[in-house]
Amino acid sequence: MSIPPIKASENDIPQARRQSVTAEGDKLPNSKLFTVERPREWPLSPIRGLALMSLVVGCALAVWQWNAISYQVRAQANGVKGVLTASRDRLKGSSANAEANSTGNSTGSESDDPPELLHHRRYAEAAIADLVPIDSNSEIKLRPAAAASINKMIAQANSEGVQLGVVSGFRSIADQNYLFFGVKAERGETSKTRAEVSAPPGYSEHHTGYAVDFIDESQPDTYTEESFEETAAYQWLMKNAAFYNFEMSFPQDPTSPLSYEPWHWRYVGDQKSLELFYKE
Ligand code: DAL
Ligand code: ZN
Repeated sequence: MSIPPIKASENDIPQARRQSVTAEGDKLPNSKLFTVERPREWPLSPIRGLALMSLVVGCALAVWQWNAISYQVRAQANGVKGVLTASRDRLKGSSANAEANSTGNSTGSESDDPPELLHHRRYAEAAIADLVPIDSNSEIKLRPAAAASINKMIAQANSEGVQLGVVSGFRSIADQNYLFFGVKAERGETSKTRAEVSAPPGYSEHHTGYAVDFIDESQPDTYTEESFEETAAYQWLMKNAAFYNFEMSFPQDPTSPLSYEPWHWRYVGDQKSLELFYKE
């Protein structure tokens, strides 16, 4: 009696079960079983007795084999089910891990730099390709939206007789390196004192391409001085800058560790700039 091979793979299990049942069903000698139930020639001759005994033993063996095969198929099916369950759990586990990792990454810092240093926020340096000169004669560069707004502002102020000008826009981290460490060393200042008026390199709004230092060209001696607040340019800015989406970055605030800088303003006229300066 041959038993069909039982395949272990997931897809073969139902077929294997069908094959085994069908095979055993095919082998059940119904006609002979009929013979057992209807003994028409009794008493038995030795040959027929032997044949009957063989038939009974054969049937018993067939039933035993069928049970054995069924058990084997069930066991294998359960085994595959177990494997599948385990795989699914592993997949679930790994996707949960991936999610946890990605959450970790999304909330984590991309570098070891602190987000704030000596009360200044960290900013990425704008790519030169993302900047434009504020006018055709200028070496001062800004992001296009900020540059367009500045040019409108200056044109309007000039048309009102106010000599508003810009002396600084985008500044590289290398330039800021000198302004912080170079000047600090020349003056013998502490880091904390220097940081009251100058951001450490990597932490200046000037890196973003959205910040400018204004000047009143009729009073150049007020450049980067608190006395800039006495100029017509400053008065004009206080009344009009918000209409051009500019705001003062370091207003007068006795509680702030940073110095008052009436000349330093930043553009906050689009989503990117707003997020840059206000995102927690
Ligand atoms: N003067 C401002 C703080 C700067 O250095 O960016
Ligand atoms: Zn500035």
